[in-house]
Amino acid sequence: MRIDIITVLPEMLENLFNYSILKRAQDKGLAEIVLHDLRDYTQDKYRRVDDYPFGGQAGMVLQCEPIECAISSLKEQRTYDEVIYTSPDGETFNQKTANQLSLSQNLIILCGHYKGIDYRIREHLITREISIGDYVLTGGELAAAVMSDAIIRLIPGAIGDEQSALSDSFQDNLLAPPVYTRPAEYKGWTVPEVLLSGHEAKIREWELQQSIERTERLRPDLG
Ligand code: ADE
Repeated sequence: MRIDIITVLPEMLENLFNYSILKRAQDKGLAEIVLHDLRDYTQDKYRRVDDYPFGGQAGMVLQCEPIECAISSLKEQRTYDEVIYTSPDGETFNQKTANQLSLSQNLIILCGHYKGIDYRIREHLITREISIGDYVLTGGELAAAVMSDAIIRLIPGAIGDEQSALSDSFQDNLLAPPVYTRPAEYKGWTVPEVLLSGHEAKIREWELQQSIERTERLRPDLG
């Protein structure tokens, strides 16, 4: 999978994907994340990509021209499954969306900034608008990073133990059960007996009960 991220702040994302699972996925050739500086696509001699909004409101708006040039130039090179715009008005990102998008070959994520982007881009070029939650960020970069992380870790082979992505919280609308590691007792704090029993079926049953109980208690809205 390839994810092209178009942003006015590529520096902000440069190192973010160079760690852990995301780095491994890229090293293994499972995922490629390419950052594009929107300013590289403007004809403006001062590399300006924004302007005042018509109508006189406060704030600046990203212009059509550099965005359209960036998207067109990418589309000339390959076909994209989605051209995503990060925006607080979009559909809320969740595990189901991550699962769906992880099946894509190529994605463009356009990061919003300032007051937003010229609405004509949203009408004509964007195929999906996604928010990462009901709060307003200073720009779409962190949203693009959150989505890319959640998507890439789902690509088969990205996570060493294939089972582990399947047992994540939310994967079946249940929160994950608690996990423990050695020592079995620390400062008098013990591990649930069943986990030390070696009885596989009982352990799976306990995990499921814990997941159900935690979901009902902490996230009843998921049920
Ligand atoms: N840009 C600003 N706020 C955002 C949010 N909550 N989700 C996605 N993009 C955003």
